[in-house]
Amino acid sequence: MSRRILVTSALPNANGPIHLGHMLEHVQTDIWVRFQRMRGNQTIYVCADDTHGTATMIKADEESVTPELLVENIRQLHIKDFQGFLISHDNYYSTHSDENQHFSSLIYNRLQEKGLIFTKEVEQLYDSEKGLFLADRFVVGGCPKCKVEGQYGDNCEACGATYDATDLIDPKSIYSGATPELRASTHYFFDLASYSQFLKDWTRTDAVQPEIANKLSEWLDDGLRPWDISRDAPYFGFTIPGTTDKYFYVWMDAPIGYMASFQNYCSAQNDPNLQFDDFWNVGSSAEVHHFIGKDIVNFHALFWPAVLDGAGFRTPTKVHTHGFVTVDGTKMSKSRGTFILAEKYLEHLNPEYLRYYYAAKLSNSVDDLDINLEDFVLRVNSDLVGKVINIASRTAGFLVKNFDGIMSDGIHDSALMAKFTEQAENIAALYERGEFSKAVREITGLADLANQYIAQHEPWAMVKNPELRDKVQLVCSQAINMFRFLAIFLKPILPVTAEKAEEFLGVAPLAWSDCGHLLSGHKINKFKPMLQRIEGKTVAHLVDASVEPAEQSAENKTAEKNKQQKTSKHAKQENDTSNSEFIDIDDFTKVSLKVARIISAEAVEGADKLLKLTLNVGDHERFVFSGIKEAYNPEDLVGRLTVVVANLAPRKMRFGVSEGMVLAAGPGGANFFLLAPDSGAEPGMDVK
Ligand code: MSP
Ligand code: ZN
Repeated sequence: MSRRILVTSALPNANGPIHLGHMLEHVQTDIWVRFQRMRGNQTIYVCADDTHGTATMIKADEESVTPELLVENIRQLHIKDFQGFLISHDNYYSTHSDENQHFSSLIYNRLQEKGLIFTKEVEQLYDSEKGLFLADRFVVGGCPKCKVEGQYGDNCEACGATYDATDLIDPKSIYSGATPELRASTHYFFDLASYSQFLKDWTRTDAVQPEIANKLSEWLDDGLRPWDISRDAPYFGFTIPGTTDKYFYVWMDAPIGYMASFQNYCSAQNDPNLQFDDFWNVGSSAEVHHFIGKDIVNFHALFWPAVLDGAGFRTPTKVHTHGFVTVDGTKMSKSRGTFILAEKYLEHLNPEYLRYYYAAKLSNSVDDLDINLEDFVLRVNSDLVGKVINIASRTAGFLVKNFDGIMSDGIHDSALMAKFTEQAENIAALYERGEFSKAVREITGLADLANQYIAQHEPWAMVKNPELRDKVQLVCSQAINMFRFLAIFLKPILPVTAEKAEEFLGVAPLAWSDCGHLLSGHKINKFKPMLQRIEGKTVAHLVDASVEPAEQSAENKTAEKNKQQKTSKHAKQENDTSNSEFIDIDDFTKVSLKVARIISAEAVEGADKLLKLTLNVGDHERFVFSGIKEAYNPEDLVGRLTVVVANLAPRKMRFGVSEGMVLAAGPGGANFFLLAPDSGAEPGMDVK
């Protein structure tokens, strides 16, 4: 009996473009989904954009469009990016849909009937100029403890204190700058605490990875508090049944969006074998798998199962949690050009390269995944193109030229061939468990065996001897059979290459069950290149094209951060326990800032935005590349003082190594202002 599996990736926020971090999740999910389909399991993969919240409303307002139009435009862009990376969603919907409204209300009503909803007066800051309530992250002011200014309403970046937004000194709304006033309003709460024991049990089933279960048990042992599921008007979202001015908090209706997208798909299919209830009723034999990042675990492994159970639906079979993408060992960075958008990547490189690289590094753990750009090129070129594709390209010609493409009937080295057939179930088990890197290691190990076999028998030499004619056919046929196994094993990762392999082999779309037989007496087609090597400089071009010098300055980082608060992050931050937007004082003191004098400045050939600066930093000199060319004549900079980040790891750029970063303020381009200390400062002085 084949399994019935519903699979989801987390719903991307509808307020920004898809980047390689999001893409990790969709590639991971897609590989698992394609594997399940190859196994013959009924597998439905749905996703959607997460559209609701104040951020969407404000952004639509800024762009003078309706929120509906804004989110629909962004959804189309997201769909394009995912298609570009060969992500095989069966449905990519929106949380702003009739189905989602239906299920959100249904679930709420059921929770209400069960006595799991209660209301409470909450005092909150209110921006009377903008006419909206301000979440903690939308208020800035002085820290009540250490008095440092410019702190958000939940905790202090300078001293780490946590407090209520109402305690801030001289608080201001980040939207209007107005001084917010205190207003009381009624909020709706879900009684999460009554689910403590349920969740303690649930998180110790194999529904989550053990390391996640440990993390969750910390929260569970601390005791769960009621979950605030309402927001006041104005808000872009769904009104709570029985109210006119209370809305579901975005994180309430977002996971329900999984159900809504699935329901929308079921309706469109109109297939008796695909019924919503069969997947979502309590006791269903179907499976529900969510793939998510580690920052949103509490929403998926605490709130969501509790809400589902409370509303009389089944709970997820598994929540698969992954870590975060870093590039060359650090957080993706706009100034380094490593905050790479999906769209930018696709302008330069084949999506299958990244799918392969991610697969080669993904495991079942929540460790972060580092894209090392050199390693990326190496693995694709030497392992994938050099080893796997090479097997076919080295041997197909002899069969086509001398035997009309017909493969022999017998097997030349059956012990070797058995290694391939015997690995099929082992590799399948690794895919099933999400251990893709181990699967890739087994597959490339088999590719090594195949290449050794070819090298050992040298068909190119044998073909010169007419007496060895049969053996040439046997050896090349075996090589093609081995290649076919590798094509099956890699198909979840490389769907397009697998399709080209199928065409070359002259076979129907490969399924996992094809591991059960070999090709014999079968006619193959002429070999055509399936995948090109990456040229090293393509990656450098991608990084260059992704550099956003605007973020190079400290000032701009804050601006960028404020912008993110307003848009992408806010929904999550409001309830996030990890506070990933903050650095603590220890992180800040790790940064060494020093006064530097610019000794020379010159344009960099081939770079529109960069100047190469030679800096005197007191006891030594160093080179720094800076994206301020459009703002300054190089001559005008010579002799000036500025501030340099002195302990930034040297960074190889296309034009040379940059040994630090100078600080500038402004949006970039011609509007960029180098920070300069007052006269009297000396090169080498510490900036505190
Ligand atoms: N809208 C919520 C999810 C709601 S699910 C009911 C959200 N959106 S998000 O756009 O911020 O993130 C979507 C997914 O991408 C999350 O699983 C998140 O962990 C993942 N990633 C975002 N940046 C990432 C990296 N840099 N690396 C890996 N995954 C990351 O959260
Ligand atoms: Zn403080």
